[in-house]
Amino acid sequence: MKISIFWTWYVGLVTWACLAEVWHEVMCIDIDERKIENLKQWIIPIYEPGLEEIVLRNYKNWNLHFSTSKTEWIKFAKVIFSAVWTPELPNGKADLRFVESVAETFGQEIDEFKILINKSTVPVWTWDKTAEIIKKNLKDSKTTFEVVSNPEFLREWNAVWDFLNPDRIVIWCESDEAKKLMEQVYKPFESKTRILFTDIKSAEIIKYAANSFLATKLSFINEIANFASLAGWDIKEIAEWIGLDPRINNKFLNAGIGYGWSCFPKDVSALIETGKEFGYEFKIIKATNEVNEKQKIIVINKLLEEIPRLVWKKITIWGLAFKPNTDDIRDAPSLDIIRKLEDLWVSEIKLYDPLSNEHVKEKFKYMNNLTFAKNKIEALEGSDALILLTEWDEFKNIDYTVFEKLNDKVIVDWRNIWNKKEIQNLGFTYKWI
Ligand code: UGA
Repeated sequence: MKISIFWTWYVGLVTWACLAEVWHEVMCIDIDERKIENLKQWIIPIYEPGLEEIVLRNYKNWNLHFSTSKTEWIKFAKVIFSAVWTPELPNGKADLRFVESVAETFGQEIDEFKILINKSTVPVWTWDKTAEIIKKNLKDSKTTFEVVSNPEFLREWNAVWDFLNPDRIVIWCESDEAKKLMEQVYKPFESKTRILFTDIKSAEIIKYAANSFLATKLSFINEIANFASLAGWDIKEIAEWIGLDPRINNKFLNAGIGYGWSCFPKDVSALIETGKEFGYEFKIIKATNEVNEKQKIIVINKLLEEIPRLVWKKITIWGLAFKPNTDDIRDAPSLDIIRKLEDLWVSEIKLYDPLSNEHVKEKFKYMNNLTFAKNKIEALEGSDALILLTEWDEFKNIDYTVFEKLNDKVIVDWRNIWNKKEIQNLGFTYKWI
């Protein structure tokens, strides 16, 4: 089946490659010519395990096509995906500029029945707004089309696996014709998972509810962790034992610095804002947001308990990406921690992350007290204390004697990855969540 996809970023690229992997013929389009030229030479702008292999294999099978032309995007197939970015606006709502621009192009270009499948995370009723824009832009008002909702549930670093092994596929469409096309798209997955055609326009809210639930679960365990640390209880043990109840399960129970990247923060905010539009106040989800913000203050307070004045002090941070195995720093908690340390007049902030040093350097080029280390040990040289923010494997299995390099011997482990007894026995001050 021929399929085309607009926007070559995480969701678009993974969808493009994985649909080709299950034997569809797929074209990806981006208006950024450089990106498409790079793709033609196998330069993939993101790293996702398995993605490069799939792209190479399917290019050889002639299943993958590229273009920068919006006309080609529409002409190529009857089934057209849009995976544009929907960032958060300053007022907390989702920015739908790109969604709207796609709808305009789709309306201007179609001359026979086609479906536009929205893969982006969008607020409820975006379906209706998109359809209205398409209608306004049709060359011939008799041309028929349909807007379909099909949210993605891809985790960064696991996106290829998640796409090819989905827990569920959620689709909302109106006509039988659109339903038949969507069944064809996902036929290769029929034996693996449940394909859910929602009977109301709830596909859009399912994505928001899923992300907000996960964010809430995480904030819940972070609250229990904050409370447990007051009495010296071990949150890892608590999480393990409550997770044995299958109704709770042990996933998303690793307490830490809170969630980052734009998906959880932007989707939680967008759900709160959507609630307001309907006159509903989400109390739990608002609290989720607050707890997540508080996590960043608590980590600094833990440091201040041991070093009350940070002026003249050098502080090291290990781990800058919002989670391990990615260089993504969008909305990463580390960025707020760096800003807070800056406000406290720390004389030098020494940073190390296996992949995202350069992104952070670029982001904070105006700050002159940041230094970036080539490796984790260099980042400790001459420093007073260490804060750990991302649980990369290379931090997990270290010889604790490296902490001898810290002048004040203070370690704040905000991902709970080290053995507190062993570290304390070596005479270090160890703070954990
Ligand atoms: C998340 C969802 O898991 C995906 O299902 C969804 O499709 C995606 O957002 C999206 O909306 O596009 P992702 O943000 O890549 O995926 O990462 P997760 O692995 O879910 O982690 C989110 C955050 O929670 C990270 O900051 C991570 O460090 C934190 N986390 C997660 C914890 O602190 N503890 C945990 O136990 C789990």
